[in-house]
Amino acid sequence: MYSSLKVLFSYIGKYKWPIFLGVILSILGSLMVVIGPQYLKRISDEIFDGIGGEMDMDAILFLACIVLTLYLLSVVFNTIESYIIPSTSQRVANKMRRDLNAKINRLPLNYYDNSSTGDIMSRLTNDADTVGEQCGASFSMLATALSMIIGCSAMMLYTNLTLGLICIIPPFAGFLLMRFIMHRTHGFYVAQSVNLGKMNGLVEEVYYGHTVVSAYGAEEECKGRFSDINEDLYRTAYKTRFFTSMMPQITGFVSNLGYVLTCIVGSMLVIEGEITYGVIVAIIVYVRLLNSPLLQLADALGGMQSLAASSERIFDLLLAPEMDDESSKECPDVPVRGDVEFRDVNFSYIEGIEIIHHFSLQVKAGQKIAIVGPTGAGKTTVVNLLMRFYEVDSGSILIDGIPTKDMPREKVHSMFSMVLQDPWVFDGTVKENLIFNGADVPDERIIEACKAVGLHDLIMSLPKGYDTELNANTGLSAGQKQQLTIARAMILNAPMVIFDEATSSVDTHTEKKIQKAMEDLTQGRTSFLIAHRLSTIRDCDLILVMKKGCIVETGTHEELLAKGGFYSELYSSQFENCN
Ligand SMILES: Nc1ncnc2c1ncn2[C@@H]1O[C@H](COP(=O)(O)OP(=O)(O)OP(=O)(O)O)[C@@H](O)[C@H]1O
Ligand SMILES: [Mg+2]
Repeated sequence: MYSSLKVLFSYIGKYKWPIFLGVILSILGSLMVVIGPQYLKRISDEIFDGIGGEMDMDAILFLACIVLTLYLLSVVFNTIESYIIPSTSQRVANKMRRDLNAKINRLPLNYYDNSSTGDIMSRLTNDADTVGEQCGASFSMLATALSMIIGCSAMMLYTNLTLGLICIIPPFAGFLLMRFIMHRTHGFYVAQSVNLGKMNGLVEEVYYGHTVVSAYGAEEECKGRFSDINEDLYRTAYKTRFFTSMMPQITGFVSNLGYVLTCIVGSMLVIEGEITYGVIVAIIVYVRLLNSPLLQLADALGGMQSLAASSERIFDLLLAPEMDDESSKECPDVPVRGDVEFRDVNFSYIEGIEIIHHFSLQVKAGQKIAIVGPTGAGKTTVVNLLMRFYEVDSGSILIDGIPTKDMPREKVHSMFSMVLQDPWVFDGTVKENLIFNGADVPDERIIEACKAVGLHDLIMSLPKGYDTELNANTGLSAGQKQQLTIARAMILNAPMVIFDEATSSVDTHTEKKIQKAMEDLTQGRTSFLIAHRLSTIRDCDLILVMKKGCIVETGTHEELLAKGGFYSELYSSQFENCN
């Protein structure tokens, strides 16, 4: 726990000082409250002495003014502290979210391959929120609690050693009991978060896979899993609630025990003439004051535990290895011709499991290259490497004779219009989805692209046309999403083109339309087309046939058919299917 808090402290940098100031203010606020009873004691003694005789009102008023001033000062200190601490903590959380967001753009893609999106999201939201709430609050709460406990105890002993010693015992015994219970119940808290996580996971899974669940009639089995988790959650949740609600009972009881002891022992001491009546009043106030800091201390320790846990998860992400810094890489600002070369490229997603083996290829500017091959052959991987989404293990990829690893990544990305295998539609209007990240695209060009892919009529039939809001799950069919992403690539108008299975979800009529649009788009641009339907790539300049990460055949459609190899096998099997 301490090592993660240490990392957190070095991270928060300049925000350390406001937190430090807040801690000092809360200590000062507590001290004012702790000194107060000393004057209450003197007031009580004045009153006691005055009973039956002459009451010294001036002295009583003077002392009362001091007590009032002390309590007012405490309010002022605590008010400033309650402004400084939350605002500083929220600033730390804000900085953390910004850094996490920037970090996410610098992480290599394989980081995402190895972690769940939900988990990364949770770090950015839940964990950053915990830091925003606890960083500062738990420290100032700890400072307040400790200064109250130490101050009250010291003052009780100072006021009267015997009575002080006797009355300190119950609160501390109570605190030890609380710590013991907290320690023993820690498991329930952990189990509660685990069960909550399981519940979220199941709900998400069933929600996303709702159609599959219904189609396979798995509702009963899902209900069963849900009730099991829900039952576990109920059991752990009521236990944690029970133990949490026991804490105030314990402190309440020990306070009352303190009052009883003070009255019994105090009156004996008064009879023996060892203490005055005012001492009893002061000790009773201290016993009452000790009540809440003990609870606060327990809370602060719990808060620090969750702060440590959340910061550990955040720094785990913030300190993850990044992609290389490319700010020093420069690239001449000349138009891209489009010569592409793969030189003996080897690549593995996971160390030791090579996916692409000795891949070499030379493409002249303007050529249309098709990549075909069975599922899992490595077609998407090859274009991922060309886009520099991943770094090659060995070999190199050159565009116009310059190795892509010597160019900034953004430069490589900007050279391609890419249509991915999973069409991605985000929350926003149709138009925003079409000109994604582009600026000042004339409406005519957008409409032209949509007409070319056969989407214009559909868009015009939507309630607000091109301004209709879309989101990732609704509004468009899978094929329409593909049409939209193809139109997006056409609008981007980059020097080279990559289509990954761009027409897999559309009907033959739309496919023909898209094919025509693709022909226009790929005209004169180096293009890489990945296709399962071999009929769509017949006129490509070169067809690469891939199998298990290797190129097994290359040539034009006719050459490959004439060869009678793997391609012709694939082709005739599709042809047979058509018949
Ligand atoms: N992110 C990843 N992490 C680890 N392995 C991966 C990853 N992506 C793909 N693979 C593996 O790499 C191999 C090639 O995958 P790739 O996606 O390139 O195939 P593909 O030829 O595009 O197949 P398909 O025709 O089904 O799209 C597969 O065996 C796959 O399991
Ligand atoms: Mg693929």
